Amino acid sequence: MRALRIGLLGLGQIGSAFYSLLHQKREYFEKEIGVRFDIVKVAVKHRSKKRHVSIASNILTDRAEDLIQDASLDVIVELIGGTRDARRLVSQALRAGKHVVTANKALLAEYGDEIFELANRKRRWLLFEASVGGGIPVIKALREGLVANRFDSIYSIINGTCNYILSEMTAKKTDFKDALNQAQAKGFAEADPRLDLDGVDAAHKLALLVRFAFGGKVKLKDIYCEGISRIRSEDIAFAEEFGYRVKLLAIAKKTKDGIEARVQPTLLPKDHILANVNGSFNAVLFRGDEVGDSLLYGRGAGGHPTASAIVSDLMDIALRQETRFDEDEIQMRAIRKPLRIKNISSILSRYYLRFHVVDRPGVLAGIARVLGAHRISISDVIQKERSVGNIVPLILLTHDAHERNVRNSLRQIDRSHGIQGKSQVLRIEGN
Ligand SMILES: NC(=O)c1ccc[n+]([C@@H]2O[C@H](COP(=O)([O-])OP(=O)(O)OC[C@H]3O[C@@H](n4cnc5c(N)ncnc54)[C@H](OP(=O)(O)O)[C@@H]3O)[C@@H](O)[C@H]2O)c1
Repeated sequence: MRALRIGLLGLGQIGSAFYSLLHQKREYFEKEIGVRFDIVKVAVKHRSKKRHVSIASNILTDRAEDLIQDASLDVIVELIGGTRDARRLVSQALRAGKHVVTANKALLAEYGDEIFELANRKRRWLLFEASVGGGIPVIKALREGLVANRFDSIYSIINGTCNYILSEMTAKKTDFKDALNQAQAKGFAEADPRLDLDGVDAAHKLALLVRFAFGGKVKLKDIYCEGISRIRSEDIAFAEEFGYRVKLLAIAKKTKDGIEARVQPTLLPKDHILANVNGSFNAVLFRGDEVGDSLLYGRGAGGHPTASAIVSDLMDIALRQETRFDEDEIQMRAIRKPLRIKNISSILSRYYLRFHVVDRPGVLAGIARVLGAHRISISDVIQKERSVGNIVPLILLTHDAHERNVRNSLRQIDRSHGIQGKSQVLRIEGN
């Protein structure tokens, strides 16, 4: 029987679920698949902390280095999160000749170049299915199932917390704060949810998708990243009136002068397949030159789905154990040359613009004049009578316009008389 001796770093939400899964399905893996997984040592930060899983005290340590130095271990499963300790421990594990499985998208988005390179140099597998889309086999789909394709685009919902909040705001007409409280009460959002809400977590995952879909290096700072904290319930309601839903999308598109890579709240037509991905679910829509559109959908986070992806990586390692490690060509392609990522100011898109304006004649004409001067044409308008004091919301949809022109015009409009507060600008995708 094939066997893997595992050192587990981290016994938090994911580590505990992974530990339980291996115990509960031990017989199934051994009898039906012929693979034996043994968790030999587990490292945590606080050894005396109360755990959700029962674990023999002789395998638990607070010295992660013990796992690195244990020559009997085949693989280290890194589930501690963060980048500082994880970078050091993953590098040490690879240098010590161990394979590594990780769920850490932040680590790979920031230090992927050095870690993938090190893994290849040391001829060890570095697998990371759990880092994007939880239990959905997104990386496997890219590396294997869709390998025949060159990709035109990826449209994805890869942050369950934001998707849950926006879905609640849409379905129950709640405001952002209530929806966030709900997400926290249900355990979808962290106590400090900034990485999710600011779009950074989705940008980490998009960086990995772009690397493997388009084959090259990506700097995290080149991915434009905008979160959902400025979305108001009125934006959701107005979008609805125009026939759209608001989703936090992570988008990558190939264009003739580079790749667009951005995370942003986006208006999608209500009948778009991603507009109907709700709650904490994730989905990734690939457009490949051979398959056309291909959608992966499922639970993008949480203990069970993420542990499922980790086992998939371990199974790969177990099944490849007896084959010689040749260079991982697909991983090397992802670190060889830098990809050309377009600056957000040069993209072309349609826009949703929302202003709060003084209800008097000439304000709309003034806004239209500024937009026109920047070559932005309006496709739709809603001006509401429901006023607060003398202030009414005014919503404009535009035809395709350059982001740079939109920003310049909004800077001018926001300073003019008759406009209250900062305008809202959201991009529109689909149809
Ligand atoms: N949560 C999800 O739904 C999800 C989904 C996909 C991927 N991920 C990724 O999975 C990873 C783990 O996430 P999580 O939610 O399980 O985190 P978590 O609940 O905060 O658990 C982290 C664990 O790592 C341990 N730890 C931290 N620093 C350590 C160190 N230097 N040495 C040894 N142990 C250390 C902690 O020990 P103590 O318990 O003693 O404090 C804890 O057991 C992250 O990279 C995350 O991005 C999470």
